[in-house]
Amino acid sequence: MTYTIGMVSQKGGVGKSTLARMMAREFVAGGLTTKIADLDTQQQTCAHWAGRRAENGVTPEMQVQSFASVKTALEDAPRFDALILDGKPNASEQTMEIAKASDLIVIPTGQTIDDLHPGVVLAHSLRKKGISPEKIAFAMFKTTGSERENAAARQYLAEAGYLVLDGEVSVSTAYGSASDMGKAITETSFRTLNDRAARLAQSVIDKMAELQERQVA
Ligand SMILES: Nc1ncnc2c1ncn2[C@@H]1O[C@H](COP(=O)(O)OP(=O)(O)O)[C@@H](O)[C@H]1O
Ligand SMILES: [Mg+2]
Repeated sequence: MTYTIGMVSQKGGVGKSTLARMMAREFVAGGLTTKIADLDTQQQTCAHWAGRRAENGVTPEMQVQSFASVKTALEDAPRFDALILDGKPNASEQTMEIAKASDLIVIPTGQTIDDLHPGVVLAHSLRKKGISPEKIAFAMFKTTGSERENAAARQYLAEAGYLVLDGEVSVSTAYGSASDMGKAITETSFRTLNDRAARLAQSVIDKMAELQERQVA
């Protein structure tokens, strides 16, 4: 069975593609055959990144393919253990298709109300259209390091009825530089930053395992 994760948001630039690349890297490192379906045909962030990765000889190799539709992206999914759908922003129809196809939906968000509010609006709209809230999780991204702000953001999302994944990815130029090199944010030159990102990745994996167990039960 292919495990499908969807990265969605209403806002652009929140970290969907960064998260997609990190999860792909962690899955591959863990021995899972993985593919990123880059559904943002305008940006093609992941597809370009895979090109830089290959150019720089970064291993393990990542499989990324651009798709104009979720339907075609799903067609060769059975060949992989994990499929990561990297969505485009402001695309309610595509977002809904991704949500339907995904076992787990991750919405990356910053800590300010400006970022949190559209994330919650999106999650609510998915629920309204029949998506189970249990398969929606928020990931704290580009955080500032303020514990108070972090706690407030987590509380805001919890009160809205959603799970917030453990760990967060702080704003760091080293993460940006790693991406420029074709690396994932668990592959920077800094151990602490890699460990921090890996904690979020582990939290995604734990959530997936939990959902799978429930399905079996
Ligand atoms: N933790 C971070 N620190 C600094 N810059 C980041 C971080 N995460 C992502 N970025 C940068 O933010 C921008 C948007 O990220 P991206 O993952 O492409 O978002 P989205 O796919 O949601 O549009 C990119 O330029 C990316 O390199
Ligand atoms: Mg993107």
